[in-house]
Amino acid sequence: MTMPVLQPTWLAASLEDVAPDAEWVDEALAARLARMTYTKRYSEARLGRWAAKQAVAKTMRIESVRDVVIRNAPDGAPETLVRGRLIDAVIAMTDRSDWAVCMVLPGRTRIGCDLEIVEPRSRAFVSDYFTLPEQETVAAADDPAVMANLIWSAKESALKVLRTGLRQDTRTVEVTLLEHTDGEWRGLEVKEQTGRILPGWWLRHNEFVLTCAAEGPIAAPRSLVNPTPLAAAQPSHRWMEQPQRAAGSAVPDPR
Ligand SMILES: CC(C)(COP(=O)(O)OP(=O)(O)OC[C@H]1O[C@@H](n2cnc3c(N)ncnc32)[C@H](O)[C@@H]1OP(=O)(O)O)[C@@H](O)C(=O)NCCC(=O)NCCS
Repeated sequence: MTMPVLQPTWLAASLEDVAPDAEWVDEALAARLARMTYTKRYSEARLGRWAAKQAVAKTMRIESVRDVVIRNAPDGAPETLVRGRLIDAVIAMTDRSDWAVCMVLPGRTRIGCDLEIVEPRSRAFVSDYFTLPEQETVAAADDPAVMANLIWSAKESALKVLRTGLRQDTRTVEVTLLEHTDGEWRGLEVKEQTGRILPGWWLRHNEFVLTCAAEGPIAAPRSLVNPTPLAAAQPSHRWMEQPQRAAGSAVPDPR
């Protein structure tokens, strides 16, 4: 088998990693953050942008993260500009429990990624959102909670590739775990109803499960930081300390 040429790079960051000063915050982001009154949304938006700017800057060797601007297309998908010009790469973003991941794939091939924690998923959840073969995979798994979150994450990754997100019925994409591995990554694929396959990868670190999928074959993602801090990550929910913040309050507090 010939190795696919395309290889995403990826970076994980936690709330603790985000620089407390506002130097890295571009004007569009500052305006967006200032409008956010719920700490959870503020903190997720800020962390996600921090991780994405770092990932793009490291991948494309851009000196100042302030030059990297992440905006959302009308459907919500992230787009990246460097010094005002769209870059020739697709990025995918996700955050969960005070951790964010960004993947960068040079070129125009679409990629999606999704970070989940291993949490209980009810039978109703699995039967409502999973296909029958996926339900059987969960039922047969050594650890059904891990499997349910892994399959859910891979579905979300695929729905980000398709740019529909949860507007699309999650049973229209079916996840299969594959045998092949590459380092910490294991293979998976997501099949659309048309029969088209979106190849991807997954890994687990502690309570976190991370997946990705793409429009075509991709090599296992290469971490931009070694070892990835996700390997020692613990989920947290800092926003709960102060759920609401004053609109327009200065970056960075509260996180
Ligand atoms: C895509 C989606 C499944 C991700 O939700 P989630 O699991 O709660 O959140 P994650 O942290 O994993 O991912 C969030 C990131 O996904 C990306 N994203 C959002 N919509 C996307 C889409 N249509 N295609 C690809 N990526 C998308 C964004 O970068 C977002 O982060 P940001 O808003 O800070 O830029 C969800 O946002 C969704 O279903 N969106 C479409 C429907 C919707 O409500 N849209 C409203 C915005 S137009």
